[in-house]
Amino acid sequence: MRKKLVAGNWKMNMLRERAVDFVRRTAGELETEAVICVPYTLLDVLSKEAAGTKLSIGAQNVHELPSGAFTGEISAEMLADLHIQYVIIGHSERRQYYAESDEAVSRKLRAALDRGLTPVVCCGEPEGVAHPRAFVSAQIENAFQHVSAEELSKTIIAYEPIWAIGTGKTASPEDAQGMIAHLRGVQRLKYGAEAEKQLFLYGGSVKADNIGEFLSCEDIDGALVGGASLDPISFLKMVEHTK
Ligand code: PGA
Repeated sequence: MRKKLVAGNWKMNMLRERAVDFVRRTAGELETEAVICVPYTLLDVLSKEAAGTKLSIGAQNVHELPSGAFTGEISAEMLADLHIQYVIIGHSERRQYYAESDEAVSRKLRAALDRGLTPVVCCGEPEGVAHPRAFVSAQIENAFQHVSAEELSKTIIAYEPIWAIGTGKTASPEDAQGMIAHLRGVQRLKYGAEAEKQLFLYGGSVKADNIGEFLSCEDIDGALVGGASLDPISFLKMVEHTK
């Protein structure tokens, strides 16, 4: 059986003092594993603060190469050096504001796997796209082009319809379940039974009072949560649903 997972995406929020306080208030309370993906400035301090607890720390982006002349970038090797376990790849905000292509996402996914990080690969359609399932399947097929069947269970996919991110509008649980079942089917065609081991998260305006409806869907294994993951009480309430 697949585990359930809540992953927070703090985006460009939180300074050190509040972030450390968040970890002190949450990490010891967790009965199941949970993740927060934090800005680069917090990775080291929070990775130390959360060590030995059920709270794992993730980054929000990674460069595709191990080192080199890429001013401002951070490699998977550097994340591994800080004992970071997870990394978000291809979030729609990075695709939109930093022109990250499916090809770049595929190379970053490879880099993360090569350093033993668990990639959380984001996909999702913009509002009004004619064929959402075809659009999102293509993102996944492109992203996973260099991933083997043995590696699949070490990766996570987050389906986040772009119009639902930060808007307070969510997909209906039925629609989210339908899309994710479709994506699992796409993975099954390529990877066979290994597709049953891959975690799929839903993201887009998830909060403590709606997460239960998503997590009760057959193919939805958890949530990627932005705004509602910044508050320790709301974060703990959401993680309660993964027990
Ligand atoms: P949101 O963000 O929960 O604030 O909608 C989700 C995300 O961007 O991962």
